[in-house]
Amino acid sequence: MIVRAQPILKGLRAVVTAGPTREPIDPVRFISNRSSGKQGFAVAEALHAAGAEVTLIAGPSALAVHGDITRVDVETAQQMLDASMQAAAHADLLVAAAAVADYRVDTVARQKIKKSGDTLTLQLVKNPDILVALRQQFPALFLVGFAAETEKLEEHARGKLARKGLDLIAANWVGAGKAFDVDDNALSVFWADGQQEIASASKAEVAQQLVQLIAQRWQARATQGVT
Ligand code: CTP
Repeated sequence: MIVRAQPILKGLRAVVTAGPTREPIDPVRFISNRSSGKQGFAVAEALHAAGAEVTLIAGPSALAVHGDITRVDVETAQQMLDASMQAAAHADLLVAAAAVADYRVDTVARQKIKKSGDTLTLQLVKNPDILVALRQQFPALFLVGFAAETEKLEEHARGKLARKGLDLIAANWVGAGKAFDVDDNALSVFWADGQQEIASASKAEVAQQLVQLIAQRWQARATQGVT
């Protein structure tokens, strides 16, 4: 039996960021993280199945998506920021599932760094926060963030919800075999005056439930007239 998703987001334009970013050190090396992109890609698929017109901004990932999803491949946080700003200008909502590198190497070596001393020091500088930049530029954009935490899940997630001016934040535990590069996930989703648990399931099922919740909160914001 084929179960088709209800087109609850028909007519809406959605952007999803997913996967890791890669910050170059020299022509052959980079700093990155363990994000597989699976949860973000699944959110893009679920938004598409719910009728939205979807642009996926993907860090390096071997995953594929539905042909009707517009895919923009990027490497660095700066490239992800530029692509997100461009796509968000024509969007109603954006889900930031990417694991953006918080820091990049200050000066990327033009040639391969040769082995010399016993230690090597790299100077790192902070990357721009994509969600903060989006909120500043697009006050009415419905913004959904993710928070990957190893402790104090609700406290840290609610802190990010407020600090980044988000409409919704989906938090999950990471570390010790949880969330990164595995097929199942569980989420605690928070918004200003509420929260909902999405129980452990495949990342595809979790994405479908998250999209249901996004649709509900989108509707609630529209009826409250909150922008
Ligand atoms: N994010 C972003 N730009 C960054 C870093 C993070 O847009 N430069 C987004 C992520 O895509 C995610 C949310 O912010 O939706 C939370 O990311 P996280 O790394 O957990 O939060 P940080 O603000 O970086 O806080 P910390 O690393 O201190 O937990």
